[in-house]
Amino acid sequence: MSIYLAPMEGLADHYLRKLITQCGGYDLAVSEFVRVVDQLLPKRVFLEQVPELHQQGRTGAGTPVRVQLLGSHPQALAENALRAIELGSHGLDLNFGCPSKTVNASKGGAVLLTEPESIYAVVRSVRDALPGDQTLSAKMRLGFEDNSLMWECAHAIRDGGANEIIVHARTKQQGYTPPAYWHLPADFEARLGIPMIINGEIWTPADAGRAQHEANCSSIMLGRGAVRNPWLASEITGRHNQKSDWSQVHQLVVQFWQEVTQQMSPRYCAGRLKQWLNHLRLSFVEAERLFQRIRRLNTIDEINQVLPGFGDAN
Ligand SMILES: Cc1cc2nc3c(=O)[nH]c(=O)nc-3n(C[C@H](O)[C@H](O)[C@H](O)COP(=O)(O)O)c2cc1C
Repeated sequence: MSIYLAPMEGLADHYLRKLITQCGGYDLAVSEFVRVVDQLLPKRVFLEQVPELHQQGRTGAGTPVRVQLLGSHPQALAENALRAIELGSHGLDLNFGCPSKTVNASKGGAVLLTEPESIYAVVRSVRDALPGDQTLSAKMRLGFEDNSLMWECAHAIRDGGANEIIVHARTKQQGYTPPAYWHLPADFEARLGIPMIINGEIWTPADAGRAQHEANCSSIMLGRGAVRNPWLASEITGRHNQKSDWSQVHQLVVQFWQEVTQQMSPRYCAGRLKQWLNHLRLSFVEAERLFQRIRRLNTIDEINQVLPGFGDAN
């Protein structure tokens, strides 16, 4: 069984990837998408978006990171895939699930699920460009408007030469509304003959067990559940057997704040902290109190005065 940390553009950046993987249980983290139009991107684009490439493609906790590309131009994707690998990405992931209207309008993300032949062309081109020992994965939703082309898309991914298929078990139309339909791709692994990683609505170890059972696969990918409970993967693997308490979470939040304030432009720091707390408060009542306390604060100094004192369940 493998546990992957999901790509979450604008949310799970390298700061959060480090902290979440530091809590244990993750075999791999997939980066947020790097958008490819029709050209080879400069190296600095990869290094800025996925700074782990400066450190052998691993998070600060040592977890391998796989770059995700989004686009529809087979040749440009192939060239950029090779560049990502040369820079240290651990395999390469292709995005066939992004629901953004802008992205879909330029033929990227989930809209490709209406054109299995385009999916095939992209996967084939990227596979042919990559060294044979590099894993190529593709992350799909069940479909665009509905799941009528689910099998065609899955076959296109496998026939194009992907080694793994990651399935966010909802259509683009279903967005992020629960439930996730884990049972629909249940025959993928058996019929495609490549490993499937099931994703969507896994919030607890019990959800993980149900998703594995219904999807008939052992590997899972955690998204928002990991942001709301960084120890979720450890709890699933049984390495962390009591529910994480607030003092542990608080330490992590303080570490996050230190790293963000050291490296980010000061005007974005408060926003980043509030964004994470906005997720954590759904799991920890103390995070809700902290969120309410800082929601109108905007400077680093103001937050520095409040944050340390919130460690003992105020
Ligand atoms: C803020 C946000 C950004 C996301 N960005 C990406 C992305 O860059 N690439 C991608 O394949 N999926 C992206 N996703 C989808 C997630 O990877 C995942 O498939 C989805 O959140 C369902 O899993 P979950 O229910 O565990 O969160 C994003 C999701 C969120 C909430």
